[in-house]
Amino acid sequence: MPAKSGMGIGHADAIACLQKVFAKNHTGFGVDSTDQNIDPGNLQYGEITYQGMQPLYSALELGQGDVFYDLGCGVGKLVLYVALRGDAARSVGLEVGQRRFLLAEGARCSLDEELDSLKKAGKSQSPATEYKFMLADISRHRYLDPTVAVLTNLCMDMGVQSRTVNCLLRCPSFRRLVSITPLLHSRLKLVRSVLVSCTWAKISAWQVYDVLPPQEPLARSFLTTPTVVKRCTSASALKRPPGE
Ligand SMILES: C[S@@+](CC[C@H](N)C(=O)[O-])C[C@H]1O[C@@H](n2cnc3c(N)ncnc32)[C@H](O)[C@@H]1O
Repeated sequence: MPAKSGMGIGHADAIACLQKVFAKNHTGFGVDSTDQNIDPGNLQYGEITYQGMQPLYSALELGQGDVFYDLGCGVGKLVLYVALRGDAARSVGLEVGQRRFLLAEGARCSLDEELDSLKKAGKSQSPATEYKFMLADISRHRYLDPTVAVLTNLCMDMGVQSRTVNCLLRCPSFRRLVSITPLLHSRLKLVRSVLVSCTWAKISAWQVYDVLPPQEPLARSFLTTPTVVKRCTSASALKRPPGE
């Protein structure tokens, strides 16, 4: 397990900060849309409560060098919570709903401003954890750096779930996955469950998996950044691989 960096703040302070940030934001509940080819049934919404974040965070066992992903991050509360706690190197949210992604981006800007003003007043320093959001379909994403991820798969169809797990398992650094409903894969070893409070259930048991090493060595293309992934249509697309 990576060493703890201990640069962040405690649960209560992180929640107080999030309450400020999200006071200005509209909710992730309600309809959303995507131009990706996925069934709209996947875009149903619910979220982890502030109270539920503490036990989930402990189960993630994040430390220095970890890169956390919330897969289907909604308006981004969990991503920003992980950032404020400050143990991981990076906290990333992927969301396919265009409206929710924009709300998460708004929250990210509000948190930047909040942390800036606290810093200017000499009251705090910025968390060591970087945070960002991407508008992306988690089941067609090329994962380069996650070590730990949460898959809020309650309303996701089986195709989205299995494609997502397969994409994640190609990433050599990936070591822990937490999901709401059980996942079956030979490389996922259930180690425990964690009780989490969310908007659809006072308490629900989430599954915590360790990622086992692959039976066969990973294909070379997964271990190194390929020089050419596919033909790109613009120069800017060549500079940055898709999904990075
Ligand atoms: C149950 S909500 C969870 C929000 C947040 N992770 C939390 O726990 O508070 C699931 C989110 O996943 C998003 N989602 C569903 N399918 C997706 C996909 N294929 N790619 C990215 N996001 C997806 C939905 O739009 C929704 O916002």
